[in-house]
Amino acid sequence: MRMRNKYRKPTSFRFNAGSRCTLSIVVWGLVGCILLVHLYSIIRQRNEVDGDIQIRANQYHLMRELEEVEAGGYQIPPPKGRRSPRAAKRRPKKPTTLIEEFLDENSQIRHLFFPDLRTAIDPRKEKEEDTDRLYYYPGRVWLDTDGNPIQAHGGGILYAKRLGKYYWYGENKDGPTYHAHKRGAARVDVIGVSCYSSTDLWTWKNEGIVLAGEETNSTHDLYTLNVLERPKVIYNDRTGKYVMWMHIDDANYTKASAGVAVSDFPTGPFEYLYSISPHGFDSRDMTVFKDDDGTAYLIYSSEDNSELHIGPLTYNYLDVTNVMRRILVGQHREAPALFKHQGTYYMITSGCTGWAPNEALVHAAESVMGPWETMENPCIGGNKVSRDATFFSQSTFVVPVAGIPGLFIFMADRWNPAELRDSRYVWLPLRVGGAADRPLEYSFGFPLWSRVSIFWHRRWRLPGGWSHYI
Ligand code: DGJ
Repeated sequence: MRMRNKYRKPTSFRFNAGSRCTLSIVVWGLVGCILLVHLYSIIRQRNEVDGDIQIRANQYHLMRELEEVEAGGYQIPPPKGRRSPRAAKRRPKKPTTLIEEFLDENSQIRHLFFPDLRTAIDPRKEKEEDTDRLYYYPGRVWLDTDGNPIQAHGGGILYAKRLGKYYWYGENKDGPTYHAHKRGAARVDVIGVSCYSSTDLWTWKNEGIVLAGEETNSTHDLYTLNVLERPKVIYNDRTGKYVMWMHIDDANYTKASAGVAVSDFPTGPFEYLYSISPHGFDSRDMTVFKDDDGTAYLIYSSEDNSELHIGPLTYNYLDVTNVMRRILVGQHREAPALFKHQGTYYMITSGCTGWAPNEALVHAAESVMGPWETMENPCIGGNKVSRDATFFSQSTFVVPVAGIPGLFIFMADRWNPAELRDSRYVWLPLRVGGAADRPLEYSFGFPLWSRVSIFWHRRWRLPGGWSHYI
């Protein structure tokens, strides 16, 4: 036993000494590790802060770029042919306006408004060699991932959070343009509503026609000889359904109704339900807006386009409630595109001049139900004529750019009444911020609204730091 103890003591001593030694190594090792981790996290944090500052600096730089004023290069060409002095005396030729040139399908400068297919925005090009990747070129033909021109006119965008994708819905106008009556507006038969999906808001995959026109039943709202315009889709979190609202009309625009369709999937098929005269009124150009609390609103031009009406939808978004407010009374506005920034509601509208472009105006409200105040023309850059013609386009929707508060994409249509299927898209950066704006009719009331600006760019892209996903 003793022997064993004797033997064990030094052993245990050696063991304890080793253990103490090991312990101190472990402790110092741990301290070292903690210090290293701490050091690493400080460096990382600094890098992150630096990176953040860098991203912010880049974003700031890019935002400044987007806010730079780009002058427009449109110039009226000299009159065609020489006129004899006698002819000139008899009936002096009126100077051609740029709007007349825009509407003249034989204009010498038509290529400036409707550049040909060779300049198309094409997402199929190889990434490495394509310096145009992710660049928007307002007015150029825009191809989808199959190489076909995008057919989504008068459209709007839905972001489907669960799927991490954007969906662009719009009128498919890929048919012949004709006039139903001698003095009627140019039209295309109802083909249906197209849907395109994207993760970057630039590369669009055709998801097909999600609501098709009706070819045989002439009593159906979607009958080919009727009118289906400005479809917009919102998601109802309570019912899990995708709900589409659209302008439904007859060829003479006398039915003036709002149609509703529903689907379980963003890519359809949508089931057409019915059309209504909301609140018992005529309804032409329209949009829907879903607020942060899930309440959605229908906004439509009414009383023969002399005013707009706004009212909340029912809990399932399939109808309007009986609450409605008249807004912009007597202002004759259409093509409403509503958005929200920092608790204030904004809306861009156009005047009512058929397919011809006119001046956009911004309106603002503290409450979505109004009162709404009219501010000014938001267009910046280009030249005066193009600013007064919304860069030869008409508003349809405003998309928030995720991750960059105050930055939005203004979506508009450059209609081509001679060939409606060849109408173009004008997407431009829209910024809320900067100097306060006074309402046009100054009412001594507060607040003074933030300025809303749409900047003209021949070529632009979203700042690198935008987050793609909301
Ligand atoms: C202007 C509207 O905004 C368009 O949606 C379309 O209805 C045309 N009028 C038809 O002339």
